[in-house]
Amino acid sequence: MPAFAASAPGKIILFGEHAVVYGQPAIAVPVSQVKTRALITPNPAGSTGFVRIQAPDIGLDAKLEDLPADNPLLVAINLVIARLGVDRLPACTVRISSTIPVAAGLGSGAAVAVAMIRAVSAFLGHRLPDERVSALAYEVEKIHHGTPSGIDNTVITYALPVFYIRHLPIETLTVPREFTILIGDTGVSSPTSVTVGDVRRSWQAEPDRYDAFFHQIGNISQTARLAIEEGQPEKLGLLMDQNHELLQKLDVSSPELDRLVESARFAGALGAKLSGGGRGGNMIALVRPDSLELVANHLRIAGAVRTIPSIIHRHR
Ligand code: PMV
Repeated sequence: MPAFAASAPGKIILFGEHAVVYGQPAIAVPVSQVKTRALITPNPAGSTGFVRIQAPDIGLDAKLEDLPADNPLLVAINLVIARLGVDRLPACTVRISSTIPVAAGLGSGAAVAVAMIRAVSAFLGHRLPDERVSALAYEVEKIHHGTPSGIDNTVITYALPVFYIRHLPIETLTVPREFTILIGDTGVSSPTSVTVGDVRRSWQAEPDRYDAFFHQIGNISQTARLAIEEGQPEKLGLLMDQNHELLQKLDVSSPELDRLVESARFAGALGAKLSGGGRGGNMIALVRPDSLELVANHLRIAGAVRTIPSIIHRHR
């Protein structure tokens, strides 16, 4: 039995976070500068079912059976085994390595799940189609997020820009003109489940007011889709600014995010917004390639612990 490896990129939400949980459209793109890799090496001398799991980035080196029942790596493996009707894995070592920062809105949880599901299913001789990989990764995502919209596992599985509406078939975007996004990380870790829960409580208290915010955000995602598909990505700047203002109204921004957003605009970005769950994690700015360095410097001075440039390549 040969070794099998699979990898999955990070992701960033361009428009529509939070509103997407309430049925509004959102746009997300893969971030291929960072990725997760799962490698499965058979251990023919070992007894069946002895699976060693290593994730050096988080200091994990354990027997699979010793992991807690809700460990995402264990859950991902068990989902594939159940799906394929296999009893247990042949003896092997599963190694996960990742350059995707954890809990920073870059989809590290979904990328680990996708890479793992692909590697395990290939190792068992049944490569799963993308649709199935995404559905299983969604099940793993529930451990992290509670009630995820499904956008992370979708964009990471397909590794293409997606226009995503919950419960509808996925739509990938055509990108006739490439554009550049700069990601700035506040370094503040903020669990998405907390902000999603807070937004839900606010919505329950004032449904009309919050539905109106979600609707406006949905309209921004629709307009952004047109701008991207018509080859006018420079229009995304203003839309990012508008989306950020609405996210502030949902109370998911933070002083750190606002500072980075403002400093990006000051340094010449065409627009900027927080990205993902909010109150920490990342912001994104739309930049012209020639101002990338300047904006990145300003972000670092304003407190960004990391900046990642990401080119959204042409895609037909
Ligand atoms: O924190 P992230 O990047 O995983 O994004 C969460 C996006 C939300 O819309 C806030 C939640 C969701 O499940 O879509």
